[in-house]
Amino acid sequence: MDSGMDWHTARALLEWQVELGVVEAIADAPVDRFAVEEAAKEQAKARKAQGVAKRGPVPVVPEAKVDPVAEAVSAAKGAASLEALQAALGAFEHCELKRGARNLVFSDGVPDARVMIVGEAPGRDEDRIGKPFVGRAGQLLDRMLAAIGLSREESVYITNVMPWRPPQNRDPRPEEIAMLQPFLRKHIALVRPDVLVIMGNISCQALLGKRGITRLRGNWSEAEGIPAMPMLHPAYLLRTPSAKRETWADLLAVKARLEGK
Ligand code: URA
Ligand code: URA
Repeated sequence: MDSGMDWHTARALLEWQVELGVVEAIADAPVDRFAVEEAAKEQAKARKAQGVAKRGPVPVVPEAKVDPVAEAVSAAKGAASLEALQAALGAFEHCELKRGARNLVFSDGVPDARVMIVGEAPGRDEDRIGKPFVGRAGQLLDRMLAAIGLSREESVYITNVMPWRPPQNRDPRPEEIAMLQPFLRKHIALVRPDVLVIMGNISCQALLGKRGITRLRGNWSEAEGIPAMPMLHPAYLLRTPSAKRETWADLLAVKARLEGK
């Protein structure tokens, strides 16, 4: 800057400004905002005189702040089929779990099933294969279903709250659940099962708005307008085999409901 000011004076002036609370240097030369405004008025006048169409002031666009939940709502709303919903999820870029996952885990089973199972999140095996409940918990789930005459090949549709595996299988965060929830709701609306089976706490959180699976299990509830049975998660049953008898009772309740009893 060639102001003719010596270094010591410039420094003293700067220190004085800092003491006054100046924290940011904007430009070398000050801008006279009054003059700018005047100049703009003059320009507008001149344009008008020349008969040039008046252009409004350039709008100040606020920095776009994306609301992932709103984005999810509109993406899910536009999906009119399961294929479209899967594609919409695949194109959804606001969940950080996607970046760490190998595959989108969308669903397994038959889309016209009367029973829809909602699990929590893919684990390692599910992430690798791209299908829900294919690991040890999934094998137990298949045996449980077989015990009441159901199978994913013929009569059950399976999905999870989270379509991507969380790192180290950590619990999904509330904001992650919230941004995937619109997709889950649409998923249920497209399948329209007679009965929902809600497995584990994360799924209860997403569909019933509360946790406490050990208290909720065994009691019919309603989610998305559909009768819903909360059940202990098969991964929990693997760790706590003594809880299997409770799940057996819950499975029988589902069977009875399907049979109209
Ligand atoms: N646990 C779940 O909740 N879902 C899966 O797909 C696998 C394990
Ligand atoms: N605790 C959980 O987190 N899930 C279950 O299914 C049961 C107990």
